[in-house]
Amino acid sequence: TVGPVGDIVIANASVTFDGTTRPAVLSGGQFPGTTIVGNKGDRFQLNVVNNQFDSRMLQSTSIHWHGIFQKGTASYDGPAFITQCPIAHGNSFLYDFTVNQAGTFWYHSHLSTQYCDGLRGPMVIYDPQDPYLGQYDVDDETTILTLADWYHTLAKQATGTPAPDSTLIQGLGRTTTTLTAPLGVLTVQHGLRYRIRLVNIACSPNYVFQIDGHTNLTVIEADGITTQPYTVDQITIFAGQRYSFILNANQAVGNYWIRANPSAGTKGFAGGINSAILRYVGATDADPTSTQDVSTNAFVEANMRPLDSPGAPLTPVSSGNPAKSFNFAISVTGGKFAMNGVSFVPPTTPVLLQILSGAEDAQSLLPTGSVFPLPKNSVIQVSIPGGGQVLFLSSTALQHPFHLHGHAFDVVRSAGSSVYNYANPPRRDVVSVGNAGDNVTIRFVTDNDGPWFLHCHIDWHLEAGLAIVFAEDVPDWNTTIAHSAAWDNLCPAYDALGASD
Ligand code: C2O
Repeated sequence: TVGPVGDIVIANASVTFDGTTRPAVLSGGQFPGTTIVGNKGDRFQLNVVNNQFDSRMLQSTSIHWHGIFQKGTASYDGPAFITQCPIAHGNSFLYDFTVNQAGTFWYHSHLSTQYCDGLRGPMVIYDPQDPYLGQYDVDDETTILTLADWYHTLAKQATGTPAPDSTLIQGLGRTTTTLTAPLGVLTVQHGLRYRIRLVNIACSPNYVFQIDGHTNLTVIEADGITTQPYTVDQITIFAGQRYSFILNANQAVGNYWIRANPSAGTKGFAGGINSAILRYVGATDADPTSTQDVSTNAFVEANMRPLDSPGAPLTPVSSGNPAKSFNFAISVTGGKFAMNGVSFVPPTTPVLLQILSGAEDAQSLLPTGSVFPLPKNSVIQVSIPGGGQVLFLSSTALQHPFHLHGHAFDVVRSAGSSVYNYANPPRRDVVSVGNAGDNVTIRFVTDNDGPWFLHCHIDWHLEAGLAIVFAEDVPDWNTTIAHSAAWDNLCPAYDALGASD
């Protein structure tokens, strides 16, 4: 683990996660990347050292700390060409931000589709005042369960939305031709309760998650927001989302399948694909023989409640008229996605830098048609109709999980629900917009200055333009957003290397 102060070393390596060997880009030489930890209130000073040399993949990089609000430090948010230029290879860059949140987060490359090649890892912020302390016995880096998709084709060679070759849980998985490859193992001691941190670090699929024999999973956190306890037997988790649940290791000592059925790629569990192993101390070192439980109590987002009193701390959530309301229709033309007819193309000068270096106002920000100015201290409402997940190139239809940077938001209408809940809606930072007929609606309060990406977290869809930028309180950026001399030098250094990568 690293943090809150330390080096994050990015380098290429040859890896075999599912029986097939390929080159990759890793953080800390491992996959998932080295775990970043800290406590609520910590100042993180993470020095990203970019030691990449393999031109089959992108060699520059830029790191996003997914779910961290970056209040006053939008310059360290990480999305390339939104808040910074990429870090050229051979260079390093210090991300310096204070975190007043707690829960389960992750970090990933935010340059093109680089994270699909491996640059993704978990980040956990502990809260010494966690309201659930005492409800579980074990909460450490051994109980983070990462779900990832893995490809045998390098991201640069991918077209459209490729189908993953395997599902990796704890960085290991099988394909139908490598059914003896080692699997991820989560070891538990009979009689203890575990806080399991489930993180979907995928580029594409959602997963339907279950653990054989353990049908009471009590969700206590979603995307860094503490929730009222919500007990389910199955969780659908979209790319970018996180949940903490309490697992009671109260079954007979043995091995049990952990199942994560993907929405893209080879489905099912034959021979241990899309699976890992829950192993009790004392059990044999063997594949489980457990059978899948029929789900009768699956997680429903609209039924999730934040633990905090309604609306806090993002008050006011209200049924009143928002200061601004957006309705973003998704379309597909010529191999590109568009939101309200505009496909997002990254600008060459980062959006934040455009203002800091003298662009006059929000209206002059590039790329034209993709940047939407927001007034400060206002309630913003965004609706995104479902059903935009039309067949896209070779892909199967996937529901789009939308992520907003710089905020958590209140989901006043969830996918699969026609109810508008302004009283105690679920709060999170990635939401699926569902299917045709859905009209997922979120609200948030503009209390955080900066250019904040809103995009589909299917990385292939982001690359194909499924994004916009909210430019929050632009007139104040010059005074409210800290940036370092090293930040000022990122674009010159990137340009000097002729780094088109
Ligand atoms: Cu997790 Cu814009 O990303």
